Amino acid sequence: MNTAELPVLSSKQFSLVDESATIAMGNQLANHVKNQLKKGIVAYLNGDLGAGKTTLTRGFVQGMGHRGNVKSPTYTIVEPYDLAGWKVYHFDLYRLADPEELEFIGIRDYFKDNCCSFIEWPEKGMGLLANADISINMVYDDEQRILILQAHTSLGEQLLAETK
Ligand SMILES: Nc1ncnc2c1ncn2[C@@H]1O[C@H](COP(=O)(O)OP(=O)(O)OP(=O)(O)O)[C@@H](O)[C@H]1O
Ligand SMILES: [Mg+2]
Repeated sequence: MNTAELPVLSSKQFSLVDESATIAMGNQLANHVKNQLKKGIVAYLNGDLGAGKTTLTRGFVQGMGHRGNVKSPTYTIVEPYDLAGWKVYHFDLYRLADPEELEFIGIRDYFKDNCCSFIEWPEKGMGLLANADISINMVYDDEQRILILQAHTSLGEQLLAETK
């Protein structure tokens, strides 16, 4: 399902003044998932090229306990991270020619209880992705970014309620 078709149960807006603020927001979301929700989430990331989707995901992956590099999975579709008790999948569907490619990688196996999926360019995988708990929308604001978080499920609402 496309983000636009998902119900918006709540939303919050933040100003992210620089890259480190974007990383910190990703970190914060990870902490809430680990400590409060204790359940995996599906997040769709929307925003123009260079808006900061990968940067925010880097903050999340590191917040979930990954030490080291977080590279953009543009050429591999998905980059998996196996972390203590959690799996995090970072998808970048920008170059996906056909949503059926997602069938070939066994997309359904990625949406399980202790798994978090962060998906850039979700519209390219329409119909095959699990519905998002939250949408993470990043918008250019000169040299800064505006972040709009939207909750689409009660799990997403819980996450948003925690986020400051
Ligand atoms: N809050 C911010 N303010 C200003 N610059 C930022 C902010 N957050 C990230 N950036 C910068 O913007 C760029 C974002 O690149 P990033 O790869 O994260 O974008 P993206 O949305 O994933 O792009 P793509 O669609 O090409 O994958 C980086 O150069 C990063 O340093
Ligand atoms: Mg990216």
